[in-house]
Amino acid sequence: MEDIGYGLANGKIILMGEHSVVYGKPAIALPFDKVQIESRIYKSEGPITIDCLYYKGALEEASDVIEGIRQLIQFVLTYLNQPVNGLHIKIDSNLPAQRGLGSSAAVSVAVVRSIFDAFKVPLSDELLHYFVGIAEQIHHTNPSGLDATTISSNRAIFFQKEKGKSPIPMQMDAILVVADTGRVGQTKQAVDEVRQLWSDNPTIVNPILDRLGALTEEVRGFLKNNEVIRLGLAMTEAHTLLKKINVSDEGLEFLVETALKNGALGAKLTGGGKGGCMIALTKSKEEAIHISKALLNAGAHHTWFYDLGEIIDEGNR
Ligand code: MEV
Repeated sequence: MEDIGYGLANGKIILMGEHSVVYGKPAIALPFDKVQIESRIYKSEGPITIDCLYYKGALEEASDVIEGIRQLIQFVLTYLNQPVNGLHIKIDSNLPAQRGLGSSAAVSVAVVRSIFDAFKVPLSDELLHYFVGIAEQIHHTNPSGLDATTISSNRAIFFQKEKGKSPIPMQMDAILVVADTGRVGQTKQAVDEVRQLWSDNPTIVNPILDRLGALTEEVRGFLKNNEVIRLGLAMTEAHTLLKKINVSDEGLEFLVETALKNGALGAKLTGGGKGGCMIALTKSKEEAIHISKALLNAGAHHTWFYDLGEIIDEGNR
């Protein structure tokens, strides 16, 4: 059977500013197209059905795990003045879920794009971002909006909660090695625990969040001016600060240490932490291969290379 609508979404990598972004500090995130989610819409009879990693069957009877997507589909169809039936939605992904690579926002982006495509209605970035925000609220309770913004715009962005996004003019000769611990990251739990730590110990946590924000500002300049060494140092300092607010864990620590011992210019966790992924910075493909092998030997489940030189000026791709 041929699909009547198709939607694609990339993952994302947070280079700097996870967690501190929730407190109004800036963050920098990059689209990551080595991992993607596809959604296809087929015509069907009767109630809407869905086929994804977590659930196969009638949308109405879906478990809480896909509650955000369930509500999102109903909301989008109502917005488009379409009946909430007569469709089958199939979601395929090579984006590992719950690893800090933005899988939940990416599912939403792919699904919304596919529904708009099925009804041949143009979709602006702003409207897409609005819809994705609805599902993200349900998944994470109070997300900063960073994931939804990065994934719906497909650009390297500098983001701040109250100020929104701006594209980053990048000029870097460097490669990131992205490594998956293989364990699911606990974003919601990590965000909730940081909030508790912050309200119990504001005098300790506030300076950490301030420094993460200042580092992110500095990194914006490093990305413009190809300052790879300074970027690496900022990443490692950010990781040390994130560890202080308890969002790292043993597995992430081991991979960060392994990357640094093997010549990485900097390394840090990426995303919510407490499992999930880390990133390491290198100058050359050879070094990246060496670090990737070391990370796999140290227990990483998967690694990817991300050539920062391929992010064209203004993040436009
Ligand atoms: C999750 O990808 C990023 C966090 O900063 C949470 C958020 O921004 O909502 C940990």
